Amino acid sequence: MGGRPKILLTRLFPDDVLARAKRDYDAILNPADVAWQGNDLIAQAEGMDGLMISSSNKFTPQVIDGLPDSVKILSTFSVGYEHVDLDAAQARGIIVTNTPDVLTEATADTAMMLLLNAARRAREALEMVSTGKWIGWKPTQLLGVQPSGRRLAILGMGRIGRAVAARARAFGMEIHYHNRNRLMPELELGATYHRTAEDLLRHADFLSINCEQTPETTKLINADRIELMPENAIIVNTARGGIIDDEALIAALKSGRVFAAGLDVYDGEPNLNAGYMDLNNAFLTPHFGSATVDTRNAMGFRALDNLDAFFRGNEPGDRLV
Ligand code: 8YV
Repeated sequence: MGGRPKILLTRLFPDDVLARAKRDYDAILNPADVAWQGNDLIAQAEGMDGLMISSSNKFTPQVIDGLPDSVKILSTFSVGYEHVDLDAAQARGIIVTNTPDVLTEATADTAMMLLLNAARRAREALEMVSTGKWIGWKPTQLLGVQPSGRRLAILGMGRIGRAVAARARAFGMEIHYHNRNRLMPELELGATYHRTAEDLLRHADFLSINCEQTPETTKLINADRIELMPENAIIVNTARGGIIDDEALIAALKSGRVFAAGLDVYDGEPNLNAGYMDLNNAFLTPHFGSATVDTRNAMGFRALDNLDAFFRGNEPGDRLV
């Protein structure tokens, strides 16, 4: 390679992250912050030794096959890695790394924020005040659902799921979960384990989705499984939009079968299903679960740590393949 490794930062990451990348690498930036895809992504990778990428860049088998031979590592600025075809990367001997741990707290905060806003009808409340439609207090105005004493069902009890549980316990919620494997008692902390997602959903006054999107979890929350949930349940998703069958959830929100949803992630985002747009009981945020200065810096530094390790000839700490 000779000289400093040449890396492409596919998005305009936070300033402190860019500064460290420029200090340590021959770093090529994307000042216009274009979310390159397909052949554009391949063209931009020309002459690079490594890429720091985000989940807004889709590394399909075609893109990975088209990458120049010089590219040896894809370091994603995300914990999720469904945007990278790991098999295709492995077949080409390209290392892939992610950024676990550092965004757990921010994402769990977002889940709790969505849960409370959905339960307390915040979208309607904001609209009422900001459009001057609030004509005064009423005993039955905007009555919502109280979390305390209710069951929070957590689908996926990894780091983020457990951090959501810790917050929800402080709100007096009873924790239930489904996970591939039952946790050890010191991590379970009294939460009730359900062997199947279906059994979990039967206990879900509130549902927080915190699992990865895999072929098994894609559209897991569909019409049949929503039917298993108690009446007036609340669904929160900070994981991946594709885990929910949008048509099914929109129908359930419209009919009132589901009381409300708090969503930060969407199938096909940023082009979310238009059916959500005018639903008062859909509290919607723009995939900003990890969007705090501290967390985004930590994600960038961790992505750089992985590149540093690789280019120093060591094993990156967060190697996926
Ligand atoms: C990121 C995320 O904002 O890390 C993830 O998997 O979903 C978010 O924290 C986004 O993916 C950036 O690449």
